[in-house]
Amino acid sequence: TTPLKVAVLGCGTVGTEVVRLLTDSADDLRARIGRPLELIGIAVRRAGRERPGIDPALLTTDAEKLVSSGADLVIEVIGGIEPARNLILTALKNGASVVTANKALLAQDGSTLFAAAEEAGVDLYFEAAVAGAIPIIRPLRESLVGDEITAVIGIVNGTTNFILDKMDTSGAGFAETLTEAQDLGYAEPDPTADIEGFDAAAKAAILSSLAFHTRVTSADVYREGITDVTSTDIASAKAMGCVVKAVAICQLTGPDANGERAVSVRTHPAMIPRHHPLASVGGAYNAVFVESKSAGRLMFYGPGAGGPPTASAVLGDVVTVARNRLRGAAGPGESSYAARPISSIDTVITRY
Ligand code: HSE
Repeated sequence: TTPLKVAVLGCGTVGTEVVRLLTDSADDLRARIGRPLELIGIAVRRAGRERPGIDPALLTTDAEKLVSSGADLVIEVIGGIEPARNLILTALKNGASVVTANKALLAQDGSTLFAAAEEAGVDLYFEAAVAGAIPIIRPLRESLVGDEITAVIGIVNGTTNFILDKMDTSGAGFAETLTEAQDLGYAEPDPTADIEGFDAAAKAAILSSLAFHTRVTSADVYREGITDVTSTDIASAKAMGCVVKAVAICQLTGPDANGERAVSVRTHPAMIPRHHPLASVGGAYNAVFVESKSAGRLMFYGPGAGGPPTASAVLGDVVTVARNRLRGAAGPGESSYAARPISSIDTVITRY
């Protein structure tokens, strides 16, 4: 049987783990898909570096050529806006299905990517973009799509949760804990994205777009990082029976007297009472609460960062996208992300 050709863009913490799983689990993946996957290349920025366990013959610095060379599936784990954006658009135009973990790009310009996927009639999947291994995109995009979601509240950044948790339990300093989170592969290449809340804001934009069937971009999200949180804040919170957590809050408000709705999307540190389930989310774990009209309250909890957990979500998308492709079908498309008339994105700060 003809294999499905797979190209991987990026070979950092997540990419290395994705390549390892594609190789080590090849037989299982083949059985689950019904066809083998053939890794045709891995695009990297610098070719010379030693990469244990990775066949150097697969490495290329010409990502543009790789995405134009007949791949069926393109996995984008470079991160950031460019060159990822152009490479994904080229891949989609060439008829490849795309799996990406790129929250920054989806939050900034998801609509362009969705339109391109729709146009090409192929899949764009991104389970790994929010909360690492936790299945949260599919639940919002598929399982709960018949319900009306009214709120999504989550701890969606592993690095800041790891830091705040350590500061709370061991009194450790900010800098040393950040270094530990970087060593464990949780932090972004530039950890400013984590500690200043940009990463959580991007994830909040994606979650609210899917939950409320509208378009929220990262620029719409009120954002406050954790850099101003002091050990005194943490001690004061403790004295009041609370923990300090960085949370992302997405709420549907209205309809008002005119029948208009708004969404409020924000990320900032908040005091969480110790008896609240979010308070017990420790380390680099993430948790996402969803409130909906019919289902009520749901909670999703698990590892939110790091190579293997994020690669698990990527591989799940790879199998799903490959199965769809072989059936000549595509999963949920642009409509899962399309605008419905929400009158405003309300960035008024309401502390939770
Ligand atoms: N830097 C991110 C985090 C990685 O710490 O959660 C997962 O998106």
